[in-house]
This record gives sequence, structure tokens and C-alpha cells, in this order.
Amino acid sequence: MHRQFYRTKNRVATSAAAVKRYNRRAMSRLASLQFDYPLQRLNTFGIACKAHAFLPVDSVEVLRAMLADPALRDLPRLVLGGGSNLLLTGDFPGLVLHLCNKGIERAGEKADSVLVRCAAGERWDDLVQWTLSHGLGGLENLSLIPGSVGASPIQNIGAYGAELADCFHSLRAFDLVSGEVLKLDRDACRFGYRDSIFKHELRERAVILSVTFALPKSWHANLRYTELARELENGGLTQPTPQQVSDAVIAIRTRKLPDPEAIGNAGSFFKNPVVDVVTRDALLAAHPAMVSFPQPDGTFKLAAGWLIDQCGWKGKSIGPAGVYEKQALVLVNRGGASGQQILALASAIQDDVQQRFGVRLEAEPVIV
Ligand code: EPU
Repeated sequence: MHRQFYRTKNRVATSAAAVKRYNRRAMSRLASLQFDYPLQRLNTFGIACKAHAFLPVDSVEVLRAMLADPALRDLPRLVLGGGSNLLLTGDFPGLVLHLCNKGIERAGEKADSVLVRCAAGERWDDLVQWTLSHGLGGLENLSLIPGSVGASPIQNIGAYGAELADCFHSLRAFDLVSGEVLKLDRDACRFGYRDSIFKHELRERAVILSVTFALPKSWHANLRYTELARELENGGLTQPTPQQVSDAVIAIRTRKLPDPEAIGNAGSFFKNPVVDVVTRDALLAAHPAMVSFPQPDGTFKLAAGWLIDQCGWKGKSIGPAGVYEKQALVLVNRGGASGQQILALASAIQDDVQQRFGVRLEAEPVIV
């Protein structure tokens, strides 16, 4: 008998009945839909607010079923991973899609690298530790960054002289407009400093499902960042392993950055501003101690933490919204702060820095 094949959500079924069964199963996934869902534990700032509707997403089928549901498909949407680069300024009046798919696996080899694919819902640092325990280096400088793997390409996470783009191979993302799964390689993602296509053309359009990393077979420690090199030297490690580099990064981070479990925060609240050489030289003439770093394209990155520190904000608060004592670039929730209070503090800092240095700081987290 001739067998007819039907293309279903993302696989092939062999009968119309199978298609029907399949679609019913996909719809039934929406049984996990909830309303008035509390988000406080799902954003690292610990802002207490709610989502009108909340849907855990562990597969493409759930997203397709959501798009097929007339009650859901036109709601405003917020894609949530670890909630670590997010400031919620009030209840979210739409649908929160919470990525919770899991799985990390080797996905092949290239001549000079090993490919590792990771589901978007995994915690970033769990991925880093998985790679290290499998003898793979490349992500160690990015140890302990809070958040999920799916969120990591959006702002091209970076720390201690490395960034995600260095070891990125490709990703799969669900297109909320076409309902198709897209595959994007590194060029297509258009990574920049804390930036990617997911903050621009694909903002609110792409749901990242999995990320594949290319980890070097021949690994060299990246010790460009002086503080990291010094930390290893002080520990007597002249030929560190990837795990030892990771341990050193964790030691530095733990000393300088607040643990979101203990005190609500979203890491650096501002990007380090990038200015041209004329602006930098004029600022340096007026403030000889100013910290700046030359960029490959001839521009200069200023240390926003230093600028904020100079304005006297370090350790200060407005109500329950504060500036972290050990790192002026990090805003913290000292307990019960609303997103609006954090924003008010951010805006007072932006105004002060602009008045004193003529530079406008740009917020790093997504503000909703
Ligand atoms: N500085 C001060 N006062 C401060 C903070 C910093 O004077 O309160 C000075 C430091 O002395 C140093 C310079 O500013 O000379 C840079 O500081 P640091 O090395 O701590 O790094 P950063 O520029 O403040 C960036 C990233 C961090 C990342 C660190 C380490 C951004 C926006 N932030 O911070 O990323 O961990 O470098 O690589 O690029 C994050 O994105 O959430 C984050 C924490």
C-alpha cells in the first residue's frame, strides 16, 4: 500500500490519524498555562510582580500550539530565561514564555574544535561546568555568569577578556512570526559588545531553543585580563588548566559581584560607554586618572564603574534601590524595591554622569 506522509509540527507522521493525535498532544501541553503568575523568583533582581499569563516552554510544539491558540497568539510576549538581565517595571500584561528545555550533548567535531549543543533552558554555569568536566576548555572565563544558555547570545555575555562569540558556532531559534525554526551561524547573529541581532531585528521575534558551541581542541589559557592573570600567578599557577582558570574567575567574581540569591541584581546595569579618541583625550585631560581601554577600531571603552564611582554613587541608595558597595556598575535591590525605584536610581546616576563627564550611560538589561 502507498504510504502517505504528513508533515506535522516538526516531524513526519504516517497517517492523518497520527497527525490528529499529534496536534491534540501539542494542544494539551498548554495545560501548563497559568494566569496571574508570580515572577519574583524568576528575575534575579527579585522584583515582585506578576504575568497575566505564563507558559513553560520545553519544545517547539508548545510554541506552535501557542501560536495556534486565538486567546494567546495576539498577547504581548516576553521570553524569559534565567531572568538575570531583566528589569521588570510592573506586572506584565501579556504572556511570559519561560524556556525550560534541558540537555547538553556533544554534537560533532570539526578539524580544530568539538561541538557542544545545549538546550536554551539550561543554566549557563551548568553548561560551563559540564564542558570542564568533559575536558573541554573555552568557556572557563565566563564561569558563574548568572542566567540561562538561551539568553547568553542575546547580549553576547562577556567577562574577563572573553565573550560568548569567541566560542559560538550556531543556534536554533523559533520564529514567532513564521512559526519556523531558524538556524543562525555566528555572522547571522551579528554579535557586538553586549549586543546581537536579538536586540534589534529579531527582538521579540526569535525564541532561542538551543545553542551550539565550538570548543577548541588545542586550548590556551586566555589571560588577557590582568586581574585574572594576577589571581592565577598569586596561586602559583603558571600553566593553569581550564578548571583552574574557572576556579580563579569564580574567586574574583565572588569577591566583587553580589550573589543574586543573596541580594537582587542583574550584573552590570550599564554598558561601558564607547567614545571616539577626541572625546577620550578631552576627558583624560580633565580627569587624568580616568580608566579607558583602546578598542581594535580606534575607539575607547570607558569604565562606567569608574565614572559612577567618581560621582560618589558607590554604596549609596535611594530607598531600597542601591549601588553595590564593591562595584559601582551593579545596581541592587536591598529588599522590596520595585522596578520603578531601580529605574529612578539608574536615571539619577545617568544624569550625574552626563553632567560631570558629558557621557550618557546606556542600560544593559532589558527593561520591560
Ligand atoms: N572601577 C571603579 N569603581 C567601580 C568599578 C570599577 O573605579 O566601582 C574601575 C576598576 O578599577 C577598573 C575598571 O573600572 O579599572 C573596570 O572595572 P572591572 O574590571 O570591574 O570591569 P567592568 O568594566 O566594571 C566588565 C563587565 C562585567 C565583567 C567585568 C569583568 C560590562 C558592562 N561589564 O565590568 O560584566 O564581569 O568587566 O570582565 O561590560 C555583566 O555584564 O553583568 C558583568 C558583570
